[in-house]
Amino acid sequence: MGIGFSQLITGVQFPPISEVKRWVAERPDHGLELIDLCQAVPDYAPSSGLTDHLAGILHDPLMSKYSPDEGLPEVREALCGYYGRKYGAALSPNNLCLTIGASQAFWLAIVTLCQAGDEVVLQAPCYFDHPMALDMLGIRKVYAPFVEANGGLPCPETIERLISDKTKAILLVSPSNPTGAITPPDVIGKLLKVARRHNVALILDETYNEFIPGGSRPHDLFRKSDWGEHFVHIASFGKTYALTGYRAGLLAASEQFIHHALKAQDTMAVCQPRITQHAVKYGVEYLDGWVADNREMMARRHDLFRSEFMKPGNRFVLSASGAFFAWVRHPFIGSSGRQAAKKLVDRAGIICLPGEVFGPGLEGYLRLAFGNIREEAIPEAVRRFREMEI
Ligand SMILES: Cc1ncc(COP(=O)(O)O)c(C=O)c1O
Repeated sequence: MGIGFSQLITGVQFPPISEVKRWVAERPDHGLELIDLCQAVPDYAPSSGLTDHLAGILHDPLMSKYSPDEGLPEVREALCGYYGRKYGAALSPNNLCLTIGASQAFWLAIVTLCQAGDEVVLQAPCYFDHPMALDMLGIRKVYAPFVEANGGLPCPETIERLISDKTKAILLVSPSNPTGAITPPDVIGKLLKVARRHNVALILDETYNEFIPGGSRPHDLFRKSDWGEHFVHIASFGKTYALTGYRAGLLAASEQFIHHALKAQDTMAVCQPRITQHAVKYGVEYLDGWVADNREMMARRHDLFRSEFMKPGNRFVLSASGAFFAWVRHPFIGSSGRQAAKKLVDRAGIICLPGEVFGPGLEGYLRLAFGNIREEAIPEAVRRFREMEI
């Protein structure tokens, strides 16, 4: 008899990207080159200015050492400048903790707020790592349903009705993974009011905040002097600066929140790697223009993807789309998203994610990360959907 495993972890779904990528090895060889619409990874390289800068500092003996748990003061100072420009925020470095990707920032936020038996209200469809983490911690998920007619946007009234005396947080991802939907600033403002009324946190994962067309301000929450009482912000510089492997994330919250979160930070990671911190600092100091160019390129990919996908005759239906992602209804009636996604791998050489990994009742959908592929590859990718035998 082997060792036993935690019942909490055995009940959690296997990482869906790993699951789907395994199908690729088994697919029949039709000579079709694989088109990867699965994991959201910018296809372009980081800025050469950034990588040259890192190459120049790599030999500094300090670079291989720990930093303070929350990150180097000069990096957090530079980030305050960025938040001032982007959000009109007046943050102090003490509001910030650099993390191992947005993924770890989420863990810090959740373990700081919740304990087993508490509830979190999440907007479906939701980024699969969030419910997986909540399940592992014994935190109850309460889903606000996906309403296709709303393009996947959250409804503050619905969310408010789902709050109970066990609720600790409302969790939203904007721009959304998986729908791409960008929640407008006024709706985010209403959600903060709901959070205030019930004295719960609004956790906003803004991993894709730099892909909002036109670079407009995602919301005004940081401009309120008491923002830290109910607002917790998660960011990823992995997507922004094409540095997903550097694991560059951030948690922003009140000083008291960060004080407690640092206890978890110390036990989970100690600190974000120094080299990553220098990459982030370089990015926020020098790469606003580079980020804007890539944002425009992503907007062009979105426009082209939508117009190709919506041409008459496509039996896959575009349900929602926006920054980086499209959320589509598949035409295989009675099949799960997994079965539909497997057919796409086997017959069309397309790899994407099944809807059900983003929440219950979503078997009829698929997520396509069109942001992964270059403009010239989009018509061919969409052609494969349109010509798929049903
Ligand atoms: C909504 C969302 N949050 C967090 C993450 C994880 O980001 P990071 O790579 O910075 O941990 C992702 C990655 O795809 C994401 O889509």
